[in-house]
Amino acid sequence: MIISLPAVQHVNSQEYAEDNKVIITGNYTIPDCPDWLHKAVFYQIYPQTFYDSNGDGTGDLQGIIEKLGYVKSLGVDGIWLNPFFESPFNDAGYDVSDYYNVAPRYGTNEDARLLFNEAEKRDLKILIDYVISYTSIDHPWFRESAKQEKNKYSNWYIWTDNMWINPPEAYKDAFIKGYSRRNGQFMRNFYWSQPALNYGFAKPEAPWMLPVDHPDILALQQELKKVLRFWMDMGADGFRADMAGALVKNANIQGNDQFYTTRDEGTRKWWNEIRGIMDKEYPGSFMVAEWSHPESALDGGGFHADFYHWFPGYNDLLQKESWRILNGYSEGHSFFDRQGKGSITGFLQMYMDQYNKTKGKGYILLPLGNHDLSRLNIDRSRQELEMIFAFSITMPGIPFIYYGNEIGMRQLYGLPHVEGAYKPRAGARTPMQWMPGKNLGFSSGDPENLYLPVDTAADAPNVAGQENDPRSLLNTVRYLIQLKKNEPSLAAYAEFVPVYAKENTYPFIFARAAGKETIIAIFNPAGHEARASFSLNIAAKKLKLLAGDKINISNKKQDYTLTMPGTSYAVYKMIY
Ligand code: BGC
Repeated sequence: MIISLPAVQHVNSQEYAEDNKVIITGNYTIPDCPDWLHKAVFYQIYPQTFYDSNGDGTGDLQGIIEKLGYVKSLGVDGIWLNPFFESPFNDAGYDVSDYYNVAPRYGTNEDARLLFNEAEKRDLKILIDYVISYTSIDHPWFRESAKQEKNKYSNWYIWTDNMWINPPEAYKDAFIKGYSRRNGQFMRNFYWSQPALNYGFAKPEAPWMLPVDHPDILALQQELKKVLRFWMDMGADGFRADMAGALVKNANIQGNDQFYTTRDEGTRKWWNEIRGIMDKEYPGSFMVAEWSHPESALDGGGFHADFYHWFPGYNDLLQKESWRILNGYSEGHSFFDRQGKGSITGFLQMYMDQYNKTKGKGYILLPLGNHDLSRLNIDRSRQELEMIFAFSITMPGIPFIYYGNEIGMRQLYGLPHVEGAYKPRAGARTPMQWMPGKNLGFSSGDPENLYLPVDTAADAPNVAGQENDPRSLLNTVRYLIQLKKNEPSLAAYAEFVPVYAKENTYPFIFARAAGKETIIAIFNPAGHEARASFSLNIAAKKLKLLAGDKINISNKKQDYTLTMPGTSYAVYKMIY
């Protein structure tokens, strides 16, 4: 889902400077979030390809239970689990047909309960995927809704009242016609087989557009609250809200996206109601949005955190093969490419706009890849991957690590578009690589039956191969996670100040600070040497290297200069 946001003003480092000096105050405001979140790191598990415990070729919940020791060993605080509910799997389980039951291929509800319990024993939190902007066409609610006869579910989905008359132009292509005997077209929220659940219209313009407080809409919402309580009562610790901004319609249609709205009061009211339930009935639980518009989600939107990746700046940062690039919207140079053709400013201008609007209100999450994005490792070296991890861990907010990226699993090509996994998704969803040998330890089953094939490269990275090497990517990632926990200036809320960020220029330098605790993080992903000079309001007596490479950096009081080799980074603690 790509939201086109209004252009924001160009930024460079000078905008944060006074008298050419970058001012680091160490001031911060802690958002209203559970305490355990402030230094947290999460791990994302895609259940179909993490670990197959019964040899049928698809991962399962028992498999995840068996691997909890590994997850814990990473030093993370919790897991975001992609949907495991009953589904016809037209969109890999994001098309739910029964909210109250685990899909048989993943196990049973008892397995889910066991997973929550076993995770809790290890002090690991579990976020479920709360997919409530649509269901599958196979959901019994939709089957009822599609009937000619009016019934309890007729209004639970968005239907026009006449098959022959098309909905307004703004919704071009968003409606499906001729599906059933019901005389009307239904609205989808993603693929055609994912009909939008009905949260009403902010400004109803036709009789079939229900107001947000219509009794049938309130009844649907009651049921969806029941779904949430069902999994929370079983032991979940929170959720990631799929397409969180795609509920109430026509509030504020952005660009060519008919589904998403920003800052819509109806959608935000709903999420605030949910926040009320979570705070009261499940204290300490965590709500993450997939809204990708932090000011909508965090500034009065009810969420603790928002994934910010559906915006062009994220591609400019590290996605070599994003949907935008594959579809020709963008040239495909990210800042973290060794060609050195990227520019940090495209990312930073959008990030700072949202950061400044939400500082102290909640956390912006920059995921390290996920099941919709390409893997980080597209022709990237171990050192480049380490640098990207270091960037993610030193930025504000809560890092989310997508399974397999911690060992440098590669984006794969030429794969079947299993369950709606069009490019680049299938290439990022292949089985976890545990050890050398059959199916790289993912499954004991027939390789022909795997959900997706494993990486067949002779040097495909695997967990076993990296466990005992202290310099492996895996162990470096563990080290970086600990760094986030130990350094006060890396807390999710600590101040973030761009220090050196110039268009088409390397390196990128920023500071993080909490009180007197200050670090500066310096990144030069370009394959060539980079230099920078800058002035801070802090005169460091000593710079202590916490991670990365020792580079040539020195300061005369508040004036700093540095030279660093290509493909290098450094995280320094400032002693002053
Ligand atoms: C999920 C995708 C899914 C889409 C529509 C997104 O939020 O992450 O995997 O295809 O929603 O269901």
